[in-house]
Amino acid sequence: MPSAAPDYQLTRTYLELILELPWKKSTTDILDLAHARQVLDEDHFDLQDIKGRILEHLAVLKLNPQARAPILCFVGPPGVGKTSLGQSIARSMGRKFERASLGGMHDEAELRGHRRTYIGAMPGRIIQAIRRAGVLNPVLMLDEVDKLGRDYRGDPAAALLEVLDPAQNSTFRDNYLDLPFDLSRVFFITTANTLDTVPRPLIDRMEILRLTGYSEEEKVEIARRYLLPRQLAQTGLTPQQLTVPDETLKQIVSRYTREAGVRQLEHALGQVTRKVAVRFAEGNTQPVTVRPEDLPVMLGPERFFLERARQQLPAGVATGLAWTETGGDVLYVEATLLPGGRGLRLTGQLGEVMRESARAAQSFVWSHAGQLGIDPALFRGTGLHIHVPAGAVPKDGPSAGVAMVTALTSLYTQVPARSDTAMTGEITLTGLVLPIGGVKEKTLAARRAGIRRVVLPKDNEKDLRDLPDHVRKEMSFVFAERIEEALAATIPNVAKEPQMQADGRR
Ligand SMILES: Nc1ncnc2c1ncn2[C@@H]1O[C@H](COP(=O)(O)OP(=O)(O)OP(=O)(O)O)[C@@H](O)[C@H]1O
Ligand SMILES: [Mg+2]
Repeated sequence: MPSAAPDYQLTRTYLELILELPWKKSTTDILDLAHARQVLDEDHFDLQDIKGRILEHLAVLKLNPQARAPILCFVGPPGVGKTSLGQSIARSMGRKFERASLGGMHDEAELRGHRRTYIGAMPGRIIQAIRRAGVLNPVLMLDEVDKLGRDYRGDPAAALLEVLDPAQNSTFRDNYLDLPFDLSRVFFITTANTLDTVPRPLIDRMEILRLTGYSEEEKVEIARRYLLPRQLAQTGLTPQQLTVPDETLKQIVSRYTREAGVRQLEHALGQVTRKVAVRFAEGNTQPVTVRPEDLPVMLGPERFFLERARQQLPAGVATGLAWTETGGDVLYVEATLLPGGRGLRLTGQLGEVMRESARAAQSFVWSHAGQLGIDPALFRGTGLHIHVPAGAVPKDGPSAGVAMVTALTSLYTQVPARSDTAMTGEITLTGLVLPIGGVKEKTLAARRAGIRRVVLPKDNEKDLRDLPDHVRKEMSFVFAERIEEALAATIPNVAKEPQMQADGRR
C-alpha cells in the first residue's frame, strides 16, 4: 500500500495495535503465601477480610493453576484504600497493575471501542488497558463502577456484563479490534462508593467486599505506621529527623480532618513534613518533634471543632445518626406543633425518601396515639413542622425513621427524649424497624459526639463485628425489632403506659 493511500495511516495504526497486544504473553504468578501476606501487610493496615480473600485465591491457584480469577468489587467511602489495595494485590502476586476509570462514562463505545469505519476510531478502555499492561493477565482495576452513566449512546453497564462474565470473556470482542481477545486470565477488581447505583446483574457477577471507614484510633495507627513513613520517604527526611508523637497525630485527625478514609490526613501529614523539610534545607540540623501546639503554625487554624452532643433536649427533638460520604454524622430531628396550622411541613433539604419516611412516621404516631398515650385531640387544628439541621446540607435515605417517630412521640407527649442516646433505623407503617447501612460510621459518629448509647435495628446486630473492640466495649447498644422497643429505649416511661392504656381501652 503506498503511503499516500487514504487509509494508510488507519491501517498502520490498526496493525500496530494488533502487533502490540499481548496475545500470549503473561507474567508468572508468585504463589508464595508468606510473601503475599507480607506485601499486603506492608501496604495496608488491617482490612483482614480482603487480604484473607486474596490469600485464598493464591492458595487455589497453587493447587489448580487453571482456576478462574474471582471478580472482586471493593465498596466503601472515599479514601479507605480501595485503589491502593488493588495495586498492593498486584504487587503481592507479581502481576502487572492497570487501571481504567469508568466514572462519567456514558458511551458504550468508550468501553468496547468504535468500529474502524468511524473517523478517529479507537479501541475501548479495556483493550487499551491490556495494551498498556503488555500482558494478558494483569490486575485490571475498573474504578468507580457506581458512576457509570447511561443514555441514548448505549449502556456501558451492559458491555461490562460481557467483560465480567467468565463464560463469555475468553472471546471478548472489541469493536475496533474486531478479533476475539482472551480476557479470562485478567484479575478484575472493580471499585464503588455505593452499590445503590450499580445495576443488579452487574452486582450478581461480582464478589462484594466492603471496606468501612476508620475510627480515630485506627487513623492514628495508619498515620503512624503507613502514612508518615511514606511522607518522610517522599520528602527525603529520616525518621530521626522528624518525630510526630501520637497526641499530635490524634489532634490532626480530630481537628484538621473529617472523613471516613485517610486522604485529608495524608495531605495534612504531607504539609507537616514539607514544612519541616524547609527547616532542614535552610540549615537546621536539630531533630524536630511536632507538638500539638505547633499545628496551628504548620496547618493553619483548626478546621473542625469537636462536635458535642446537645446535653438537654426539649420535647420534640431526637438524636439521629446519618451516613455521609465523609463518614457518619449526628443529626437532630426537630419537630414542632403549628397551632392553627394544617398538614406536614418538612424543611432541611430532605430528599424524597426521607420526606416519605417523615410521613410514615407521622402516620404511625397518629394511628398509634392511644397506645403511645397521646391525646388525639392534639392532631386536630394543629399543623406539624419537621426540620433537620444543618439546613444547607442535603440529606436523604430512610434511616432517620426511628428518630422521626421518636421526635414526634416526644413532641405529642411533651416528654423529652434521652439526650445520651442516638438512634437509627428505617420504619414501616406497621411499626417494624428495618436494618440500615453504615453502622460502623454511625456508631463512630455518636462516640465522637460523646454519646455512648445507640439504638439499632435488630437485624443490624451482626454489623457490630465491624467495630474495633475498644469501641464496642465502650458503647452500649439497644436492638429494636419494633418501634415500641426503640421508643422504650429513647423516651423514658413512654413504653410502660401504652400497654396499660391500650388494654384499658379495649
Ligand atoms: N488501611 C490503610 N493502610 C494504609 N494506608 C491506607 C489505608 N487505607 C487507605 N490508605 C491510604 O490512603 C490513601 C487513599 O486511598 P485510595 O486512593 O486507595 O482510596 P480509595 O478507597 O480508592 O478512594 P476513592 O473511593 O476516592 O477512589 C492512599 O494513599 C492509601 O495508601
Ligand atoms: Mg480510588
